[in-house]
Amino acid sequence: MSAGAETTFDLVILGGGSGGYACALRAAELGLSVAMIEKGKLGGTCLHQGCIPTKALLHAAEVADSARDGAQFGVQTAFESIDMSGVNAYKDAVVSRLHKGLQGLVTSRGIEYVQGHGHLVAKDTVEVAGRRLAGRNVVLATGSYARSLPGLEIGGRIMTSLEALTLDFVPPRVVVLGGGVIGVEFASVFRSFGSEVTIIEALPRLVAAEDEAVSKQLERSFRKRKIAFRTGARFATATQSGDVVTISLDGGEKLEADLLLVAVGRGPVTEGLGYAEAGVTLERGFVPTDERLRTNVDGVYAVGDIVPGLQLAHRGFAQGIFVAEEVAGLAPAVIDETGIPRVTYCDPEIASVGLTEAQAREKYAEVETYEYSLAGNGRSQILRTQGFVKLVRDKEGPVVGVHMIGARIGEQVGEAQLIYNWEALPSDVASLIHAHPTQNEALGEAHLALAGKPLHTHA
Ligand code: NAI
Repeated sequence: MSAGAETTFDLVILGGGSGGYACALRAAELGLSVAMIEKGKLGGTCLHQGCIPTKALLHAAEVADSARDGAQFGVQTAFESIDMSGVNAYKDAVVSRLHKGLQGLVTSRGIEYVQGHGHLVAKDTVEVAGRRLAGRNVVLATGSYARSLPGLEIGGRIMTSLEALTLDFVPPRVVVLGGGVIGVEFASVFRSFGSEVTIIEALPRLVAAEDEAVSKQLERSFRKRKIAFRTGARFATATQSGDVVTISLDGGEKLEADLLLVAVGRGPVTEGLGYAEAGVTLERGFVPTDERLRTNVDGVYAVGDIVPGLQLAHRGFAQGIFVAEEVAGLAPAVIDETGIPRVTYCDPEIASVGLTEAQAREKYAEVETYEYSLAGNGRSQILRTQGFVKLVRDKEGPVVGVHMIGARIGEQVGEAQLIYNWEALPSDVASLIHAHPTQNEALGEAHLALAGKPLHTHA
């Protein structure tokens, strides 16, 4: 036991977000003794400031749109207004129920949960609230924070997603800085709530990490929704006067807004926690690991947003489970980052797994693609949504990328990830029956076409 420590645990986990708590739950299930330290609320960013509350906002946004659009379906409805206190009460109730459930799980598995700000004081010891907890293994799972740009101070009407989650009013004019995942999701919410929205994105297209065809379709849909965007645009400065923010772009253009949402990426929370002092290598603040999630220090692992790669809750869960199983000696299979499904919940939704067409063309000698339009999918027509399912395959082998866009299409990512991760050939999927009429059929149809036997497809 390290000096001054009261107990030695099999695992001491610093951070109780998606990565940390998944690791704790799985380790306890495997009979390991676990201590988990959390300074905020169990569940971390995902549950309290990320995935869950933002998706509740997006659902409220969908309800607002349904109220507005009833006449399209012959239902006479009228949209009156957004009551942010009601929206927030609904959102907070969802979070609170899940939070209670999670607390119950952690307690029932006999995990030593310590509330407080933990600090790594040796490579095997975390100090928290005057206690020293030693671990045969330590897991760093301290997550991420919303970044800003140099000189752009968060405060007043300049906010990140964190502050925007507790707004008690709908701003008439919103400028969103960053057209990545958070940017397009919030742009979508604000537009549905009635704001005029403009996105500023430095890269040539929105959601630039997605397949180019998906970006194009999203841009078309956003234009239709009257969400303005400037791509290839560089932000210069923002100033506040009263409740108005004036945003200047490189090149001189100025925009006025009642809220500037800064969504330019999330940085790792690793500073001032004793990591570097304990010998853990940091790269631009992130903790690099090998494929078994080991840091450079023996017995110290890292999981979640502090590990370079996709900053997604379900990646954190998977990494947490991986480390628990590794420590328990189960030798789990290495996680393939490309096989992690990705969903962006704006309207229309985006879902993808595997390689984009451009990435596949770099990797394989010959690549074949197929785009199945949702215009041919009954269920999508009933929902009145546009979009497509795009497949990317190695000409000589399996499907290596699935890219989808359309209302509610996120739910289709389940089959898409099986196709990618099980290295399915188009003919394997074509022989499976997809229920009619579902949006899931669009995946089936795309594979029928790629297998050379298209059904509801115009040449
Ligand atoms: P992001 O990396 O997805 O997007 C940031 C965007 O800001 C980029 O497109 C970048 O080019 C742009 N940008 C950066 N500096 C700029 C400048 N000076 N002027 C104009 N544009 C600039 O990061 P985001 O959206 O903040 O999300 C952070 C993380 O959270 C992501 O890794 C994302 O995966 C995760 N997340 C996932 C969600 C989901 O899975 N549905 C939802 C929300 C967040």
